[in-house]
Amino acid sequence: MNFSTNPPKIPVFKPLIEEAEISASVESLKLGWLGMGSYVKQFEEQVATVCELDALSDRHVVAVSTGHAAIHLSLLMMGVGPGDEVITPSFNNAADFQAILACGAEPVFVDIRKDTLCIDATQVESLITERTKCIIAMDYDIFICDHDRLAEIAKRHGIPVLHDAAHSFGSYYKGKPTGNQHAYTIFSFDPVKTITCIDGGVIVIQGKESVRRLQAKRLIGMTQPAEQMYNNSRAWAYDIEELGFRYHMANLHAAIGCAQLKKMKAISESRQAACLHYSISLSKIEQIHAPNTDFKSITPFLYYILVPPTDRGHLRKHLLSCGIDTGIHWQPGHTFTLFQNCRKGNLDVTEYVSQRVLSLPLHSMMSLETVDYISGSISEYFEASK
Ligand SMILES: Cc1ncc(COP(=O)(O)O)c(C=O)c1O
Repeated sequence: MNFSTNPPKIPVFKPLIEEAEISASVESLKLGWLGMGSYVKQFEEQVATVCELDALSDRHVVAVSTGHAAIHLSLLMMGVGPGDEVITPSFNNAADFQAILACGAEPVFVDIRKDTLCIDATQVESLITERTKCIIAMDYDIFICDHDRLAEIAKRHGIPVLHDAAHSFGSYYKGKPTGNQHAYTIFSFDPVKTITCIDGGVIVIQGKESVRRLQAKRLIGMTQPAEQMYNNSRAWAYDIEELGFRYHMANLHAAIGCAQLKKMKAISESRQAACLHYSISLSKIEQIHAPNTDFKSITPFLYYILVPPTDRGHLRKHLLSCGIDTGIHWQPGHTFTLFQNCRKGNLDVTEYVSQRVLSLPLHSMMSLETVDYISGSISEYFEASK
């Protein structure tokens, strides 16, 4: 495919919205029950199937409005509150930092590993104090944290791990899908995620009593029986036992998510193929680092490269002139005004990576020709700057 005469518009993210999602939306609207209902139940069941949750694990899925809400509620369920600290990679989404603040607690910033850009478990241990109430383990783009090591450290100190698996829905760690590694896991289904509900999130949590509490917390604390709402009706008598928020998922959003999940295998395979193609074609460019991994166990969310800091801005401009958008995930947390005074470890890798990281377009069903065009345009930039 020759794009050179007519540069395409290639965004970083492109949701796969097809006829199935549109019909599911229309159907859910025609149902007339717009709030939390039967589609939310279906969505929770389908997520549990992807995560291969079995009765033995006593793990359950609770759907909420966003990934941010899922993190906020998980931290509250752990009892995180004023004066507490939560260890999180500085190289993380602002949603995590804000959820920590929303509990009245403070983030403590830990470094990442250069090979995976995931949390550096070795440094975690040196940051734990009696104020530490949670460790956030966030899987980044195409890599999975060293969850066994983190679970071992957390267990030794009696601190729960919150697995932020917003990037790794449908991926596997040592043969088990994400959602099975810790007592709390969250997924995001926002507009740019591998599977979208437009906006949505879930918490995978252990124990029926925790599920009951979470189901109330997502409904501004109302102890409405979830089963009644899953039948598209509501109770008029309920109690309020604890703090809650308007964080439930709506039927319309769940209906879109259900339609997306039916295509999970094809979505996962197409993203794996695109990432594999990226890593092969970009490995020839000596000025950049193009990560490679066993994409067989990963449902990739984003593909990133590391480029020299002096080239990043110029390369982005060149790619834009070719119709290719790129992104930067992320500016590290400790550099934001609000978090300047938070405790932190040595963040050398975070500093190194955040000056170099560049997210390339990755879409479900993206053609390998598009990957070739993007890789070729990157190569063209470095050839010209020799
Ligand atoms: C790692 C990570 N955690 C949490 C979130 C928040 O999810 P949401 O956008 O659904 O609130 C995101 C969103 O991009 C994310 O990338």
